[in-house]
Amino acid sequence: MPSRPKYDGLPRPSRQACRSSTGSEARRTSWIVGLVIPSVLVFLLANSSTCADERADPVEQLALTADSANGLFAARQPQKFLGARSCAASACHGGIDPDPRFPLSRRHEYVHWLDKDPHSRGYQTLQNGLSKAILGRLARPTDDDATRAKRLANCFGCHNPQPDRSKQETTFYVRDAVSCEICHGPAQQWIGPHVTQSWAGIKQAGDASALGFINTEDITIRAQTCAACHVGSPGREVNHDLIAAGHPVLKFELTAYHAMLPKHWRDREERKSNPKLEIELWRAGQIACGAAAIDLLKWRAERAANEPAEAVWPEFAEYDCFACHHDLVHPSWRQQISTSKGVLGMPAWGSWYFSRLKDSAGESLQPLAVQMQRGFRPDPKLVAEIASAVRLVTPELDAAIGLPANWDDATQQYLALVAAEQTQRDAGKPSDDEVTSRIATLREQLAFPRGQDSPRWRFEPGDASVTRDQVHRSLLDLMQQLQRRKEN
Ligand code: HEC
Ligand code: HEC
Ligand code: HEC
Ligand code: HEC
Repeated sequence: MPSRPKYDGLPRPSRQACRSSTGSEARRTSWIVGLVIPSVLVFLLANSSTCADERADPVEQLALTADSANGLFAARQPQKFLGARSCAASACHGGIDPDPRFPLSRRHEYVHWLDKDPHSRGYQTLQNGLSKAILGRLARPTDDDATRAKRLANCFGCHNPQPDRSKQETTFYVRDAVSCEICHGPAQQWIGPHVTQSWAGIKQAGDASALGFINTEDITIRAQTCAACHVGSPGREVNHDLIAAGHPVLKFELTAYHAMLPKHWRDREERKSNPKLEIELWRAGQIACGAAAIDLLKWRAERAANEPAEAVWPEFAEYDCFACHHDLVHPSWRQQISTSKGVLGMPAWGSWYFSRLKDSAGESLQPLAVQMQRGFRPDPKLVAEIASAVRLVTPELDAAIGLPANWDDATQQYLALVAAEQTQRDAGKPSDDEVTSRIATLREQLAFPRGQDSPRWRFEPGDASVTRDQVHRSLLDLMQQLQRRKEN
């Protein structure tokens, strides 16, 4: 048996290598440079001139390749990134406490982000024990340096995104994780205008995006911004390999994550000025997540068609987890029914992101689902072709409730109703014990039993299990209760 590779995570910082520009340093950087194909010379020059600072840390050199690998932030925006610290002056966004006197900002955003927002932790996360364990499990004795670099670049793409070095201003700090400009856009050209009187007008006229600004006030843009990382995008993915190695599965739903995020903006005021905010977030989230998942599928399929050696195909993370991960017993309700519309025994595809979505052709993305469930070797070319043609239709919440096909579907329905409930409260309905208790019941039915990482949920009656019909009834019950409250 080959011995396990020593590589168990991130390389250590090395200042030694920086001082002596030796052959081993050249070797160390060569595989990094290999990823930045178009700018080898530029990279080496830039590298030698900044060698004295912390950029000599091989981790950060790696980080610098991450965006070249996935291209999202760099390719889309020509402007330079200034770094979070450029926002952090105490008169700007670096105040200790929120200050209610100003119309556009409470001026404490930087401190709030640093202190409370999980996005500021991304870099530390990649250094922690779980990250090392994940990377250790993914490592193979046959890995070469380029393979490791690519794998790590994937992690950086979401946890510590790096614009290409040519787009970093000298103030940009390479360990800032998911910082201000990752969500709000590179600030080089808008940092000036955004503190002037005319800024509101520039935004209103739609001219801010030409300056690199990402207007997260727009719910659609907000949803797309989150989905790029929380669903994934071409070149940055949490696939089944990562999940099996210990990475949390990404099952993103915008309203739930929006609610969880400690906010540096005036959420209450935003809700007051738009009592439909929550339902708009739900719709925008459904569409943005669906579109991101389709893009990811297309990218995976194209890779499988063009570079089959590079690609895992089909990607298990796109299917219903619990169709494969369940206890093996006979007889079982699983042998009676199939939640998949394809070949018997195939897990259902797209059960999380497409549970509530339809395409413009009507039936719930049927052609794509049929291809993906045809067998364990769907034709990648055909899948890419069908995926390119998909046009998603904005879902209606009223149509969201039905007999759930599986746990993913039931949970998506639950989250839709919770968004409807929040919308009622934002519109001034007082909270209601009946509604609260029904939400609690559903939560309990959907929650995984303590110490388990799959649902207790079954499709037939049995000890200590919850049936599909019971969950369906609870969903209908909650919906009726909401209807009643709406009419009162
Ligand atoms: C597509 C984006 C994406 C990629 C690629 C990615 N992650 Fe993550 N990671 C996330 C998100 C989002 C979370 C938070 C999960 C949640 O709560 O939904 C997370 C969570 C984690 C956590 C758990 C953090 C905690 O505090 O418990 C670790 C550890 C982690 N990631 C490490 C890695 C490593 C190592 C890699 C590369 C092998 C990687 N991630 C690749 C998006 C990503
Ligand atoms: C994960 C994405 C994300 C990150 C990171 C982020 N923001 Fe925001 N920010 C938002 C969203 C979403 C809003 C709400 C919509 C809006 O007002 O644009 C917002 C709103 C704001 C507002 C308007 C505040 C208000 O009260 O209306 C300011 C100012 C701001 N952000 C500054 C910052 C600064 C400074 C940083 C870095 C320290 C930062 N943001 C990091 C997503 C982000
Ligand atoms: C550049 C990628 C990226 C973007 C854009 C992004 N996130 Fe995240 N988000 C992450 C990563 C990575 C983590 C995990 C952080 C960690 O623990 O290291 C995370 C964590 C979170 C968490 C904490 C999850 C938990 O389990 O505690 C919430 C909530 C969240 N994000 C919401 C949002 C929302 C809402 C948006 C859009 C406004 C957004 N994120 C945009 C990458 C991103
Ligand atoms: C097509 C079937 C299939 C699907 C769908 C599937 N998996 Fe897996 N999964 C497997 C197999 C096979 C293994 C490897 C089992 C082994 O080698 O012990 C595995 C391994 C794992 C492991 C590691 C378990 C361990 O004990 O080491 C985790 C965690 C996991 N899967 C989670 C998921 C999640 C979450 C999803 C849904 C996003 C999912 N799987 C979808 C078949 C599947």
